[in-house]
Amino acid sequence: MNKTSAELRVRELHDLLDHHNHRYYVLDEPEISDTEYDRLLRELKTLEEKFPEFLTQNSPTQRVGAEPLDSFESVAHAVPMLSLDNAFGLDEVREFDQRVKRLLEMTEEIEYVVEPKIDGVAVELVYENGLFVLGSTRGDGLVGENITANSRTIKAIPMRLDRRQAPAPGRLDVRGEVYYTRDGFVKLNKEREASGEPTYANPRNTAAGSLRQLDSRITASRPLHIFVHSFGQAVGYDFGSHFEALDTFKKWGFRINPHIRLCDGIESVISACDQIIRLRERLEYEIDGAVIKINRLDLQAQAGARSRSPRWAVALKFEARQATTQIEDIKIQVGRTGALTPVAIMTPVKIDGVEISRATLHNQDEIDRKGVRIGDWVVIQRAGDVIPEVVKVIESKRTGNEKPYRVPGSCPVCASHVVRIEGEVVHRCQNVSCPAQLKEGTRHFASKGAMDIEGLGEKLVVQLVEKGLVKDVADFYTLTIEQLAGLDRMAEKSAQNIVGAIEASKQVEFARLLFAFGIRHVGEHVARVLANNFGTLDNLKNATVEQLMETHEIGPQVAESVFQFFGEEHNLQTIDRLLDYGVRVAEVEQVSEAGKFEGKTFVFTGSLELFSRDQAEQLLVRLGGRASSSVSRKTDYVVVGANAGSKARKAAELEIPVLTEQEFQSLIDS
Ligand code: IVH
Repeated sequence: MNKTSAELRVRELHDLLDHHNHRYYVLDEPEISDTEYDRLLRELKTLEEKFPEFLTQNSPTQRVGAEPLDSFESVAHAVPMLSLDNAFGLDEVREFDQRVKRLLEMTEEIEYVVEPKIDGVAVELVYENGLFVLGSTRGDGLVGENITANSRTIKAIPMRLDRRQAPAPGRLDVRGEVYYTRDGFVKLNKEREASGEPTYANPRNTAAGSLRQLDSRITASRPLHIFVHSFGQAVGYDFGSHFEALDTFKKWGFRINPHIRLCDGIESVISACDQIIRLRERLEYEIDGAVIKINRLDLQAQAGARSRSPRWAVALKFEARQATTQIEDIKIQVGRTGALTPVAIMTPVKIDGVEISRATLHNQDEIDRKGVRIGDWVVIQRAGDVIPEVVKVIESKRTGNEKPYRVPGSCPVCASHVVRIEGEVVHRCQNVSCPAQLKEGTRHFASKGAMDIEGLGEKLVVQLVEKGLVKDVADFYTLTIEQLAGLDRMAEKSAQNIVGAIEASKQVEFARLLFAFGIRHVGEHVARVLANNFGTLDNLKNATVEQLMETHEIGPQVAESVFQFFGEEHNLQTIDRLLDYGVRVAEVEQVSEAGKFEGKTFVFTGSLELFSRDQAEQLLVRLGGRASSSVSRKTDYVVVGANAGSKARKAAELEIPVLTEQEFQSLIDS
């Protein structure tokens, strides 16, 4: 391809990709499959590599993040970003309307626009001659932080304005709210918890934290969304009204909230506010109120502004989801992974009609950060409609009798050691037989991939634990047919089968047993690595943290976790009992030569036809590789089956080789 046709094709691909990006992220109405999109993106990428002179910062290929920054630069807003005056309750909204009418000396009804108030992070996006040039946070309203690189990774932010229905202004400063969905927030927190990272308190903090990453590749990995709701300047444009401006923004390709209403007077405003209040629970993102704005821009100008907020708009704040109460005590809850969570026991108060007497304090770091003591008066809130949490201490109410609190050094349920592993915020009970952990732990022990005891499903395990027949995993090997047959809905025959399955599980591979213990950070793959490298239970039991860390693929987190596990007396006793009851650990066949996929990470996605997913993964592990469930920079190959979705797309974005099943098969055979 020569230079001229390359340039043409690059432009064409920009148009195509921008169009499909808009369909997908702004309209939520994709026209092509992810695979097709990836193909176009790859074609562009290849052309840009060949003809770097055609690579621009606003290219669709540049949305994956760039080199990390040392710090954020300051940027002054051309027009200050004001905040909004609050109205508490609909009566105060009526008062606002009265105020506006007096101010504008109008007796007739005023046209307003009513919008959901998105609980996110305010940003300004600057476009010059239709091209995105600058993104910034609100900061103090006058000066914010330059977050241009991070803004580029938010797919719903257009890099070029669509000029087909409206010409681009010489300069446009549009403003909006970047937010995280509730689901996205819960999912990210689960991932962070699993990897021992501190969790975010609510979706808004998550959005703020994701936007303030110096490494824009991290921002790119977070599903951030945006609604555009206002503007600072639009040079060369004279919008008659706010509603018209929003409509033009939509034409340029911005995402506008679908619940915005044009209202022809105060009564219509009140009913629109009512609707938004009722909508609140059903939205996938959080809103903290409704914003009411005068529609006509000339009237807005006439109304003017105070120093920090305009006179032409008001925010109806939803009823406080906060309340104040006193902490009577702090108790510990032991979760299924042994995590100790401090919980504040409070004098009951109502929030949104729900009586609340407990609030999570998350962990010791949070207690220290907020300075919470027993006896304190605190502000609590229902965050993200989940567990109530303590927002802050009301220090002015202190009497001096408040007692500081420390998470105990031993488990309140079983008295075993509590350990806080370096780099983690959570304290954990180290005893696998702790009753609080027992149900989950025993279920895992018996499960497929672990001891694989057929018939010992979740319901049965819970019964066994509740009846006191199983107090630690070794107790499975003491169960009799009579005991089992005495349980709910258990026939003699099934009881026999289960005892048979328990007996059969006594011959076990070392890696499986290790996995079955449910040691933190020791999944199937890590268990196999440890088994292969240490060979016997005794070797592993006696290994030091340093020896563990010398093992290929074992990092400090795993090493510490394994070391702690075998340092706990309860665990050693359980292991001894297992051996006494006849559990025999099969010798480990050490992997002699490095497998062909040694150290390689694969992700399987889509529906596979040549292999079951399990087969594919086992094959991989046998050849030294590992299967992961999510695509990241650490992924070496992505194997796609039919209807592969976002993972294939992400692989293309990160330029990770994508294999068909056939290609994967030939790689194995080669
Ligand atoms: S209009 C001068 N519309 O709320 C008013 N703001 O408390 C300009 N916000 O900083 C903003 N949703 O970031 C407007 N639909 C909406 C909004 C909204 C959320 C934020 C905005 C502003 C803050 C004021």
